Amino acid sequence: MKKLLIKGKKELIGAISISGSKNATLPILAASLLSNKVSLSNVPLVKDIYTMLELLKFIGLKIKIKNSKRIIEIVNNKEKINTLAPYRLVKTMRAGVLVLGPLVTKYKKAKISLPGGCAIGTRPVDLHLFALKKLGAKIKIKDGYILAEAKKGLRGTKIKFPSISVGATENALLAACGAKGKTVLSNCAIEPEILDLISFLKKLGSSINVFGRKIEIVGKNLTKKKINHNIIFDRIEAGTYLIAGALIGKKITIKKIETKILNTEIKILKKMGINIRASKNSISISSATSFKKSNIITKPYPGFPTDLQAQLMVLMTQAKGVSIIKEDIFENRFMHVPELRRMGAKIEIKNKTAYIFGPRKLNGAEVMATDLRASVSLVLAGLIADKRTVINRIYHLDRGYEYLEKKLKNCKAKIKRI
Ligand code: EPZ
Repeated sequence: MKKLLIKGKKELIGAISISGSKNATLPILAASLLSNKVSLSNVPLVKDIYTMLELLKFIGLKIKIKNSKRIIEIVNNKEKINTLAPYRLVKTMRAGVLVLGPLVTKYKKAKISLPGGCAIGTRPVDLHLFALKKLGAKIKIKDGYILAEAKKGLRGTKIKFPSISVGATENALLAACGAKGKTVLSNCAIEPEILDLISFLKKLGSSINVFGRKIEIVGKNLTKKKINHNIIFDRIEAGTYLIAGALIGKKITIKKIETKILNTEIKILKKMGINIRASKNSISISSATSFKKSNIITKPYPGFPTDLQAQLMVLMTQAKGVSIIKEDIFENRFMHVPELRRMGAKIEIKNKTAYIFGPRKLNGAEVMATDLRASVSLVLAGLIADKRTVINRIYHLDRGYEYLEKKLKNCKAKIKRI
């Protein structure tokens, strides 16, 4: 089992180019089921992407990966395709459920394994099924599988989500593109990754308009032409390295980003006393001698992202006073707390709210990653802890961070995979 070894307290200096977004690539790969020929560039070559490509191959798409150029080419011209997403391909990567919408709307049926839960919660899909049913799909759950069909195709309708869900919004969008007539989705998630999916779907010929949290889609015959699409940058990766720079950066420049998408994160870091110089497509950040405490509640975009709270918590351990994080999206997303405590952090949790007492010196330790974002918070803690930190189960990291050690090593971090 691979581990990461970090020797702490090495100041970071240099530039980091941000990769394409995993969470934009996954729904766009699912959307390729609606197309004939697709070429995606700026794709992050991380484990979850390969898992999704496995699933698309299993369904019947032809996939070509040009690793060095981070390009994926997809051809979807098979008559008979397999409208099944088996458990073995969905259990480790819940975004596999995103093939449900495209399969039902284009091929009239789908058999999709219910995604397994994961460390951060049960991860239900009731909102996905709610939307598909509204569009006219017949849905049954049997032996751990979703059996969906729409013999006469899906029909556009009005759907108001009872709560905001990224995945359910994406599945409903994909299904509505192939439905007859107009669909109006309200109380939608509007993450930048969803807007990138929408720009891809528009290239396919869909007519989609976004008004705040309302999205209007008119089902159209989709083009058979080849679609080229460049994946948006990964704002969570960018936020992670911004926090690394805030913690121990002499000067770190984050490149290949759209700064305006990171407004919320920049505001919080500035409030904590970090000096940030931002331009349109890059941000320079340096650490401070002391940090002010801050309070955040994780919210759907444009609120503070739940995928960045574990990383911000590490910075809060160095802030003066008691910082507060309320995790408002997932029921169990503080798995990194026991590991940070073992490194010397003083953190108390009272029903989904973490109280972080600082500043506290962190000591290197042997720790264990539990989910993708928790594991990267341990890397950040290792960068500022004294002596050595060994992080186990780093396969979690490889699911969503492309070339993490290389990017940090290029900024003088002492980090290696053993
Ligand atoms: C997406 O997950 C992301 N994954 C997650 O990133 C991210 O944390 C999450 O959105 C929130 O921003 C991908 O995009 C592949 P949700 P998703 O549906 O779609 C509940 C990472 O680290 N819910 O917005 O699963 C759910 O339990 C991952 O890259 C239902 O109750 O998130 C959660 O409490 C982790 N019923 C809340 O809604 C449903 O049908 C938000 O979940 C669906 C969700």
